[in-house]
Amino acid sequence: MKLSAILIGASLLSMAKCQFFPLNRKEEIPVNLVPYKLGQEVYIDCITRSIDNGEHKFDEQERIIYAPFPICKETNKPLSFQYGVSEDFNCTLSISDELYHLFQLYIHEDAPFSCRLPLSSEANYLEKGGAYVPLTFNFRGEIHDSHLDIDTALNVLLTKPANSNPEENTFISSIAYSSGTNTTRIVIGDSMTLSLAVRWLDQIVPTGSQAGHIKNNGLPFSDGFYRFPMNFVPISYSWFIAYLAIVSLATAVLVYAFSYKHITHSASKHKYKPLDSETAVGKED
Ligand SMILES: *[C@@H]1O[C@H](CO)[C@@H](O)[C@H](O)[C@H]1NC(C)=O
Ligand SMILES: *[C@@H]1O[C@H](CO)[C@@H](O)[C@H](O)[C@H]1NC(C)=O
Repeated sequence: MKLSAILIGASLLSMAKCQFFPLNRKEEIPVNLVPYKLGQEVYIDCITRSIDNGEHKFDEQERIIYAPFPICKETNKPLSFQYGVSEDFNCTLSISDELYHLFQLYIHEDAPFSCRLPLSSEANYLEKGGAYVPLTFNFRGEIHDSHLDIDTALNVLLTKPANSNPEENTFISSIAYSSGTNTTRIVIGDSMTLSLAVRWLDQIVPTGSQAGHIKNNGLPFSDGFYRFPMNFVPISYSWFIAYLAIVSLATAVLVYAFSYKHITHSASKHKYKPLDSETAVGKED
C-alpha cells in the first residue's frame, strides 16, 4: 500500500493499541507456520526501487514489488542463509548500472536497502500474504563523482526464538550492517565482494512476555522483548562450551605439569625420596 493511503487512513484511527508484530496481509496473527529445519535455505527478497528517487516500485494493485537479493557469483544464486547456522562466507555481486545507482541511494541514506524474511518456510508463503520480518542492509561508505567507496564487511544478526522447540523455528528480527574499517572502490561494471559474518542469536529469552509458552498464548512463539543481556553474547553455546572444555583441559594440564615440577623440585630440594629408598637416604646422611 502506498504511504499516502496509509497516512489518510491513520488520521481516522482512534488511540493506538498494543498488538502483535508481525501480522500477515489480512492483519491477523500468523499462526500455523511451517517451521524451518536447521540448515534449510532461507531466501530473502528485497524492495525494488526506482533509481531516480529511491521510491518503491508498485504493481497494479499498488503493492510493493519485491525481487530476490542480487545474485552471488559464488553460488550463482541470490543471497540466502542456512537456517540456524552461523557462518562466514562471501557473496560477490556484479555491479550493473542499476545496482550502482541504487548503492548511491543506499550509501547516501536516501533509501534503505530493505529486504525481508518470511516467517514460514511454506512455499510461496509471502505471495499468499504471509507475515515477514524486515532485514535492512545498512551499507556505509562515501559517494564520489566517479566512484563509490563501500564498506563491504557485513555483520548479519538474525534473532530466532530460543532453540529448544523446533516448532518455533522462525524469525524474531534481523539486521545487517557494515562493520569493517576499510572501503572498496566501486565503479559501474565492477565486481564487489561482500564478506558476510552471519550470526544466529538463538539464546535470547524475551522479557515482559505475557504468556511465555506458545502452547497457551495463541502466538507463533513467545512474545516479549528479545533484549540483549548485559553480560554475554547471546549466540549458540556449543562452540563456547567446546572452547571452555579445551581451556579447562589445557589449564589442568599446565597446573598439573607445573605442580608436578614444583613437587619433584621441592622433593629433591628437601631430599624427600620415595619410601623404598628411605634406607638408602639414611645411609647417605
Ligand atoms: C572471502 O574472499 C576473500 C578474498 O576476497 C578470501 O580471502 C576469504 O578467505 C574469503 N572468505 C571466505 C569465508 O570464503
Ligand atoms: C585495509 O586497507 C589497507 C590499505 O589501505 C590494507 O593494508 C589492509 O590490509 C586492509 N585491511 C583489511 C582488513 O582488508
